[in-house]
Amino acid sequence: MTDKIVANLIKAEYQRQCEGLELIPSENYVSQQVLDSMASVLTNKYSEGYPNFAALDGSDDAVVDATGADFRYYGGQENVNKIERLAIARARRLFRADHANVQPHSGAQANNAVYHAWLEPGDTVLAMDLGHGGHLTHGAAVTQSARIYHFVNYHTRADGDIDYDELARLAQEHRPKIILVGYSAFTKLPDFARVVEIGRQVSQCLLMADMAHVAGLIAGDVHPNPLDFGFHVMTTTTHKTLRGPRGGLILSKGKVSNPLRRPEYRLENIPTLIDRAVFPGTQGGPLEHVIAAKAVAFHEALQPEFKDYARRVVANAKSLAIALQERGFQLIGGGTENHLILINMIESYGIDGKTFERSLDKIGLTLNANAIPNDTRKAFEPSGVRLGTPALTTRGLSPAEMEQIADWLQKCAEICVGRRDVAEYAVLREEVRALALRFPLPGGAA
Ligand SMILES: Cc1ncc(COP(=O)(O)O)c(C=O)c1O
Repeated sequence: MTDKIVANLIKAEYQRQCEGLELIPSENYVSQQVLDSMASVLTNKYSEGYPNFAALDGSDDAVVDATGADFRYYGGQENVNKIERLAIARARRLFRADHANVQPHSGAQANNAVYHAWLEPGDTVLAMDLGHGGHLTHGAAVTQSARIYHFVNYHTRADGDIDYDELARLAQEHRPKIILVGYSAFTKLPDFARVVEIGRQVSQCLLMADMAHVAGLIAGDVHPNPLDFGFHVMTTTTHKTLRGPRGGLILSKGKVSNPLRRPEYRLENIPTLIDRAVFPGTQGGPLEHVIAAKAVAFHEALQPEFKDYARRVVANAKSLAIALQERGFQLIGGGTENHLILINMIESYGIDGKTFERSLDKIGLTLNANAIPNDTRKAFEPSGVRLGTPALTTRGLSPAEMEQIADWLQKCAEICVGRRDVAEYAVLREEVRALALRFPLPGGAA
């Protein structure tokens, strides 16, 4: 590369990733073939519209070989159509969905497209409160969707689980057009059957699950799949536990039809209503180089090794949770059932989450400050931190290393409160680097 400034910054980031340990639960390390697909000439191609959706149930070869008229607005689509069909077919297989839209540029875009598909301005969505683990796109006042639609929030209980009684009461009171289950900071397995029962009592209510964080665990069969329980739609990012490129994905149940024609507004037509809401509703041309990388990642997630990966992610998270509790950390919900842990730092060590995040940055451990339920502190300096094991598990770390990581967290907390000397940071930094270098990244030499 002749642009030395950018080349050197990429190299520096590669070194940072190699020499540190990633505890942010929404991050992961992709394979070399996922990286290669993104860095391909597919980025040169415009392909507004969709490929043909016929015959997506066969083998990969049959899906690629199938012919039929596409729904594109530009010429030269013969290769791109095959790639997008492959991504769609593999996503459907992975999540037992009737349809997949692989074009959303991100998780936020995927959620906004579903809202656009099913809601009119002013319609009500019932979703988890941001402060209780929901995502910004679930109705936070700063978002575009909160300006357009009416969001009502349900919450978690003191035990960290969803308050299903409140959810049922609010559904009866507000008759929402969408009930949304999904989260960015929640450590339990949701009771999808109960939500379906609640949703069925509200006419025309779309059941939507935002599984951005746990899609890889669903693919690996260690987390329930909302589509198996009667949810109409599942959105996700492709870059968290699913370990693909940065992007979004929308899976749905229902009838797939020609996206160039507006179908009737009925729940069974949600796949096509969503296709039209992604393009032309909320996006322009799809990123076919990213869609190729999604196809590769879905193939990886369909392999038996991925089930083992998902099992190890959860086993590592449970080991880390126990090791942290043994060292005085207070966990929201008392532990974890997935990949994610939420610590109340104020209750644990009397320090806020941002102070702890910055302290860990000094030794090469990366996590993020996060609000905890009923947090009274400001969003930028909340009471908690959020951490998880998807990235560590990709690098091959096991429960033995979780003990070591919990030790480092304890030592940093003790430095923050003055029980240890700040000079210890340099020693801890070397210890983290030494461990990290024993577990190389799966792909991506800079
Ligand atoms: C539950 C949930 N939904 C949506 C998103 C948004 O994804 P993106 O950052 O790709 O827009 C996130 C990202 O953190 C998330 O956690």
